[in-house]
Amino acid sequence: MATIVGGIGTTHVPSIGKAIAEKKQNDPYWKPFFKGFDYVHYWLARTKPDAAVVFYNDHGLNFFLDKLPTFAIGASGEYRSEDEGWGIPVSRPVPGDADLSWHLINTLVAEEFDVTTCQEMLIDHAVTIPMALMWPSAASSDRPWPLKIVPVEINTVQHPLPSMARCLKLGRAIGRALESYPRELRVVIVGTGGLSHQLDGARAGFVNKEFDALCLDKIVAEPDALTRYSIHELVELSGSQGVEFLNWMAMRGALTGRVSELNRNYHIPVSNTAAATVVYDNQPAAERRAA
Ligand code: DHB
Ligand code: FE
Repeated sequence: MATIVGGIGTTHVPSIGKAIAEKKQNDPYWKPFFKGFDYVHYWLARTKPDAAVVFYNDHGLNFFLDKLPTFAIGASGEYRSEDEGWGIPVSRPVPGDADLSWHLINTLVAEEFDVTTCQEMLIDHAVTIPMALMWPSAASSDRPWPLKIVPVEINTVQHPLPSMARCLKLGRAIGRALESYPRELRVVIVGTGGLSHQLDGARAGFVNKEFDALCLDKIVAEPDALTRYSIHELVELSGSQGVEFLNWMAMRGALTGRVSELNRNYHIPVSNTAAATVVYDNQPAAERRAA
């Protein structure tokens, strides 16, 4: 049985990659953001996960608007990235846990989540930036990564998008699947993107501090309360790219135990984005919620 050690939520803004390449972590602009990862590093060093399930949205590197699955899971032993045109160095490949991937895929399909299975999948900045933030020394050296990943893509790009409720349920189904994994494994769940931001259109630059605070408060103990927001309300309240919060809902869903917030950092802006970094503890509970 896999042990779900907790969850991490983080923004994935590409310019973070440029700041890392230029070693600007202590510049006045970047410091308030990078400081938020001190706790993440401390917590990861203590919990030592063997694998990470990473909920993210692809921005056109692996999938494009012509074929964009609502939910897709990688089932590869390695994930490469490529130049996306942001002017940042291409990240080194990340090892995948293909055995865990197939267990999740088999269990999800049996539970009527008909996910797209990808035996090859390029990972974009929505995976590589969080990896570089969480494991900076592995990302910037050729030493082995300390863990393997299972990337889970959620369409937050082309409407119709899956609902908040559906993403929470996907996360819960993955949480249950992890609990039935036959091998001992310590797993961290990661949700990337958000919080509020809008990159284009008349509201470009839009952020909503109050709504972000509400989401960060509710997601810990009352994630179901957030399912009252329709996708269109979410676009209205958090911006057209703020809907990346769907990845956070899935991350929260996969935490099947008693969840508490260990750390929160919120900083406006990083590029056009209200940046948030959180760490959640997950204590196994005797009773689990059905999907
Ligand atoms: C930005 C934010 C994103 O989530 C993204 O995918 C690309 C760019 C930004 O704020 O610049
Ligand atoms: Fe994004």
